[in-house]
Amino acid sequence: MKELSDFAQNLAREAGGLLYEKLNSQHQVQYKGTIDLVTEADKMSEDLIITAISRRYPEHGILSEESAEKNERASVRWIVDPLDGTTNYAHGFPFFCVSIALEQDGKMILGVIYDPIRDELFTAERQGGAFCNGRKLGVSSVGDLSRSLLATGFPYDIRVSKDNNLNFFNAMALRAQAVRRPGAAALDLAYLASGRLDGFWELKLKPWDTAAGCLLVEEAGGVITDLEGRPWNIFSPGLLGSNGLIHGQMLEVIRKVQG
Ligand code: IPD
Ligand code: CA
Ligand code: CA
Repeated sequence: MKELSDFAQNLAREAGGLLYEKLNSQHQVQYKGTIDLVTEADKMSEDLIITAISRRYPEHGILSEESAEKNERASVRWIVDPLDGTTNYAHGFPFFCVSIALEQDGKMILGVIYDPIRDELFTAERQGGAFCNGRKLGVSSVGDLSRSLLATGFPYDIRVSKDNNLNFFNAMALRAQAVRRPGAAALDLAYLASGRLDGFWELKLKPWDTAAGCLLVEEAGGVITDLEGRPWNIFSPGLLGSNGLIHGQMLEVIRKVQG
C-alpha cells in the first residue's frame, strides 16, 4: 500500500506541477458540449498520468475522463480526473486540482487530490485516515444548517435539463449560512474533509469527480450518501456529503424541494 500511495502522490504532484506551469499560457480550448470544454492541459496531464500508471502497473485498469477505459476487467482500477475545474483553469481562476483514486474489487482504497496553487496534497487510505500535507484531517463540528457553509456545482446540461440543481440551490441558499459554487467538485470534497466546508451536494457527477474526494470525506469522519440518504456509489445520480451533523437537515431541504 505504501508503494501505491507514494506512487499516486508523486504522480498527482507531477501532473499538478504541469498544470501550474501552463496556467497562464494561451490555452487551446475544444468544446465537448455547449459549455463543456477541454484544454490541451487536461490532455497533457492525463497523458502523463496514464503513461506512468501503464508503465508501472500494466495489468491495472484505468478510468480517466478524457480517454477510453483501459483493462476494463481488472480488479484493481485507477480512477483519474487529470484536471478537475477545467472551466476555472481556462479562465485563469485559481481553483482546480488533480484527482487520483485507486479502487480494488469495487471499493476505493486510496484517494489523492492535489491543488498546485496552494501546494496542498490531500491523501486518504481506507481505514487509515485523511491528511493534508501530512496533517490529519477532520470534518467540522457545525451542527446547525443555518450556520453552515455549503458548496455545490451545476451540471453541463444546465441550459437544457430541468434536473439542473437550480431548485436545490435556491432552497439551500435560504437555509444555509452561505452556499459557494467553487467549480472543482473533487477539491470541494477535499475542503469538506478539511472542515473548511460543512456540506456539499451535486447532481450528475462522474466517477472521476468523486472517487478520491468521497474517500477523503469518509476517512475524515464525514458522511456520504445519495440525495435520498441511501448508500452512495460512484455511479449514483446525486451525491450528498457532510460533516454528519447537518446531514439530516440537508436531506430535509432536498426532500421538501422534491415534494
Ligand atoms: C467539473 C467540476 C465542477 C462540477 C462539474 C464537473 P471538470 O469537472 O468538478 O465543479 O460542477 O459537474 O464536471 O469538467 O472541470 O473536470
Ligand atoms: Ca471533473
Ligand atoms: Ca476534468
